Amino acid sequence: MLTRLVYHSENHLGAAGGGMIKGLNQILATSERHNEEAGITGALLFDTLWFIQVLEGEREAVSATLRRIMADERHAELVVMDCRPAETRLFANWWMGFAMLRGDNGALFARHGVGPKLDPRTISGDQAAAVAVDLAGKGLSREFAA
Ligand SMILES: Cc1cc2nc3c(=O)[nH]c(=O)nc-3n(C[C@H](O)[C@H](O)[C@H](O)COP(=O)(O)O)c2cc1C
Repeated sequence: MLTRLVYHSENHLGAAGGGMIKGLNQILATSERHNEEAGITGALLFDTLWFIQVLEGEREAVSATLRRIMADERHAELVVMDCRPAETRLFANWWMGFAMLRGDNGALFARHGVGPKLDPRTISGDQAAAVAVDLAGKGLSREFAA
């Protein structure tokens, strides 16, 4: 059964050593490899404080991926915002798209009822997914310059 799961967590990449950009590129590379194999698509939004991730795929594959992600010390305090059956994929073209949440996303956040500074604890999984879809329409960036 196709399932969509949305979670948020605290970004601990800064503390992990090696810097945030390097850490994100490593996560992206691992995600693309595993997610393609497992038929997982989705998006990862982040800023210096938070991650928000949308995972979509077969329920067992989403669960197995989440179990691995939960054990990762590059983030903490993972909270599932939403998990339910889905009819179609929102991110059919992305094994894992990346977008940085920046101050200048304010107008886009406002369209989805999200305040100027995104605090994932205050929004629904649907709102988070809608922000991610909107950002994907602008082209999620796949690479970070060091
Ligand atoms: C915020 C965050 C998001 C992640 N997203 C994914 C993902 O979508 N797919 C994935 O396979 N691993 C993801 N990872 C990495 C996993 O936690 C884990 O490190 C990796 O799957 C282990 O792969 P390996 O055993 O091949 O090294 C993510 C990690 C973090 C911190």
